[in-house]
Amino acid sequence: MLIRLNINHNPLNAECRAEEPLSAVLRRAGFFSVKCGCGKGLCGACTVFIQGRSVPSCLIPVSAVRDAEIITLEYFMQTEDYLDIELAFRSTGIELCGFCNAGRIFAAHEIIESGSRTEAFVIMERLRTFSCSCTEDEPLADAIMLASEIRRKRLGSIKYGR
Ligand code: FES
Ligand code: FES
Repeated sequence: MLIRLNINHNPLNAECRAEEPLSAVLRRAGFFSVKCGCGKGLCGACTVFIQGRSVPSCLIPVSAVRDAEIITLEYFMQTEDYLDIELAFRSTGIELCGFCNAGRIFAAHEIIESGSRTEAFVIMERLRTFSCSCTEDEPLADAIMLASEIRRKRLGSIKYGR
């Protein structure tokens, strides 16, 4: 069947089965930031943003997200919010290997965006959602706190025209 999706602000008519996981459909469409990992919602390798929330796309049947706004890492990497995270990761020596980087980066973005207290223990609680074998939670939490600070300064300088 043909299902109309909205991916990275562009329409896509996807030929697929209704119950097929969104991750499989996205990869077929060339969004290779979405990886095939555990297929059980545990590793984060297939993470995308749907309606502003990070979700493991391997658990989402494609028919459930018709017309929802789906953002993949390919698009997010073009944004200022990503540049804040990238700068913070670089400054703190965080190097993601690329397997579940979508899960880590979207989790970072969600934490920063939520405006919740960006303290290490709060962040580490959130990061425990997925297991990542190349990057430990503690240094990553520090990097996320720095990214939050970088973003706050950037938005502050826009607001006050500095
Ligand atoms: S492949 Fe989806 S969470 Fe692991
Ligand atoms: S980014 Fe998670 S295993 Fe490397």
